[in-house]
Amino acid sequence: MMFLRIEFRWHIPIILPPMNPLPVVQTQIPPDVIDLGLGNPPLSLLPLDLIHTSAQKILSQNENSFLQYGTEQGDGYLRAALADSLSKGYEFSVHAENLFITAGISNALDLLCSLFTKAGDTILVEEPSYFLALRIFADHHLNVIPIETDEHGLVPASLAGTLASASPKFLYLIPTFQNPSGHTLSQERREQILQLAIKHNFIIVADEAYQLLHSSGEKPPKSFGAYIDSQRVIALGSFSKILAPGLRLGWMQAHANILNRFANSGLMDSGGGLNPFTSAALRGAVASGGLEANIGKLRLRYANQIAVMDEALHRHLPQAKYILPHGGYFFWLEFPEAVDVSELRKRASNFKVDFRPGALFSSKSEMKNFMRLCFVYYEAEQIEEGVKRIAVCLNSM
Ligand SMILES: Cc1ncc(COP(=O)(O)O)c(C=O)c1O
Repeated sequence: MMFLRIEFRWHIPIILPPMNPLPVVQTQIPPDVIDLGLGNPPLSLLPLDLIHTSAQKILSQNENSFLQYGTEQGDGYLRAALADSLSKGYEFSVHAENLFITAGISNALDLLCSLFTKAGDTILVEEPSYFLALRIFADHHLNVIPIETDEHGLVPASLAGTLASASPKFLYLIPTFQNPSGHTLSQERREQILQLAIKHNFIIVADEAYQLLHSSGEKPPKSFGAYIDSQRVIALGSFSKILAPGLRLGWMQAHANILNRFANSGLMDSGGGLNPFTSAALRGAVASGGLEANIGKLRLRYANQIAVMDEALHRHLPQAKYILPHGGYFFWLEFPEAVDVSELRKRASNFKVDFRPGALFSSKSEMKNFMRLCFVYYEAEQIEEGVKRIAVCLNSM
């Protein structure tokens, strides 16, 4: 068997097998299938050069403190650079002492459940909501109550009604370019929900994975990070959708009293802060403005992808109703009541196409006639072809 031989500067040969037979990425899509349901960025948009330059900088200096157990709240250089970058992106001051580095939003949610809840506790979610967050809440055996939403996000009157009889530990919200609906919570409702959190003493966990990904000139309302002084808000951010998911890096923005609970947890005490090596490797990419340039590039590309999907839907699936998204990753299609999208999906493999059925995102086993499509993963021709295949599949029912 042939082996690759890599020689480093200090002449320690590292022997690697020529081919790794085990998988590397989470989702394998057969080459002839178009999966318009997948909520991942394509490999072509993951900025290897930017991360290479940034990582090389710290690896070529004669300083290795990032190889030590890290400070509990996360790499100080990265937090300072991120605070500057977010202050520009969010248009209000973000301070490094209010940021806590996580291994991504999924990790933050899991940690939050570990520290703030016990099995059987009640939490509130939007109906529909991000299905994999629902899985994390199920892992913690939480009692999940869904709250009604409309095209302006969570309905405060419905939340107030639920709070008359429930005492939730937290409300999990995706306020901007929601997954799956693409809807954005209005400014007025943000303030109403905050008032309810103060009155009823629960935490708002704002998952802001898409906050910076607006694809039209119009910006969404401010991040929930603007309200951390209330001590009722934890705003979660992630590098997954603005840089690369494989970094497994994100952040929480909250009042110091809340962050101290995380910093003093057993996990941090034993293992130190999260991902100090990756954090150090990203310092330059954030401090140099490379992150902002990358977000600018993504916004332009996604605006184009939205236009392509919108046109394809008009042409091939006129029976689907939707509100055009102005950012994020998703179109949320509503079909006539009689269409069961989970049933449709069972047939979709025959047509070499895939999507996510609405029922996945429902805590009430509803939304059966809804479908989530993602516009970021494929090039224009594949988006058009994928939508066409869905239409052929639907017409075959
Ligand atoms: C709303 C939402 N939250 C969280 C995540 C996962 O984030 P991370 O990669 O930071 O764990 C996703 C990914 O699709 C998402 O859509």
